[in-house]
Amino acid sequence: MQNDSLQAVVVGAGTMGTTLAKLMAVHGVRVTVVDTNPQVLGASRLSVEENATAVCFTTDLQLAETPDFVIESVTENVAIKREVVAQIEAGVADTTIIMTNTSGIPIDDIGSAMRLPQRFLGTHFFNPADIVPTVEVVPGSHTEATVVQKACSWLTRLGKRPAVLNTCVPGFVANRIQHAVMRECLSLLEKGVVEVEALDDIVQYSIGVRMALNGPLYQRDLNGLDTHLNIARYLYPDLDARQEPASLLEEYVAQGRLGAKAGRGFYHWNDESRAQHQARERESLQRIIEIATQHASGDEP
Ligand SMILES: NC(=O)c1ccc[n+]([C@@H]2O[C@H](COP(=O)([O-])OP(=O)(O)OC[C@H]3O[C@@H](n4cnc5c(N)ncnc54)[C@H](O)[C@@H]3O)[C@@H](O)[C@H]2O)c1
Repeated sequence: MQNDSLQAVVVGAGTMGTTLAKLMAVHGVRVTVVDTNPQVLGASRLSVEENATAVCFTTDLQLAETPDFVIESVTENVAIKREVVAQIEAGVADTTIIMTNTSGIPIDDIGSAMRLPQRFLGTHFFNPADIVPTVEVVPGSHTEATVVQKACSWLTRLGKRPAVLNTCVPGFVANRIQHAVMRECLSLLEKGVVEVEALDDIVQYSIGVRMALNGPLYQRDLNGLDTHLNIARYLYPDLDARQEPASLLEEYVAQGRLGAKAGRGFYHWNDESRAQHQARERESLQRIIEIATQHASGDEP
């Protein structure tokens, strides 16, 4: 991998910052990880494990060298991100490209106060960032085309599949789709149509396994667009179209049912079951990605 000359900084050493650091280290990029919380930095260093020698960890955003790019991956809060981006911009050269790993906050909302917003863009990685191939590349209204090209070329060198959006919309593509699916799932639970386990089973072993091989549009082509239209005509009036989050979700969060990290979400969890699942998931994801890539390479129309 020809990344000897590349130098990067990741700001935020949480779930995503840590797997971003692993990704860089594995590909020979010299990377510095910055977080205001020393405990989080310590945990991140442990998790990066065998690659840790190639990674520098610090609480100080005053950067000693000039990185090629900085990825902001701090808490999903527009005010915090704006402040962090302003700090990054104050400390780097005008040539450094600044990226945000926001899950879907509009790029202009984060970058509009920047001195040079033309070198700022969204690069939305998926968890774990060192394994999942796609990165949504999201230009803001000021981002220069050459900046988008450069970011895509670096992402490709990191083994990623950059997918560039034409226009920035809230939630980008992946989270809009994920939330549309979850809105309907929660609505079905609220109406008592199906239980949690059965819903997961139906989605995972039907459209789930199919989508690992074919994107939704490719899959619909194979199914027939006329059939899709016939179903859409009678189904859409019955689908959930609420403008607010489901009350079931509000209730769970208010009760502290935050998911695996809290011991309870839709299911019951403990530290052991969570750790076991996460360890198996990394390995299984790699196998699924391998199968999907092989399938696609023999399947060009
Ligand atoms: N977790 C996911 O599945 C996922 C997936 C894709 C994108 N993202 C996005 O990635 C970003 C980070 O998410 P995460 O899940 O890693 O969050 P996290 O809460 O695990 O980590 C965020 C880190 O940012 C640090 N931080 C906060 N303010 C800071 C500052 N001023 N300077 C330096 N560090 C600061 C916190 O100490 C924390 O360690 C968010 O924008 C999130 O939406 C998350």
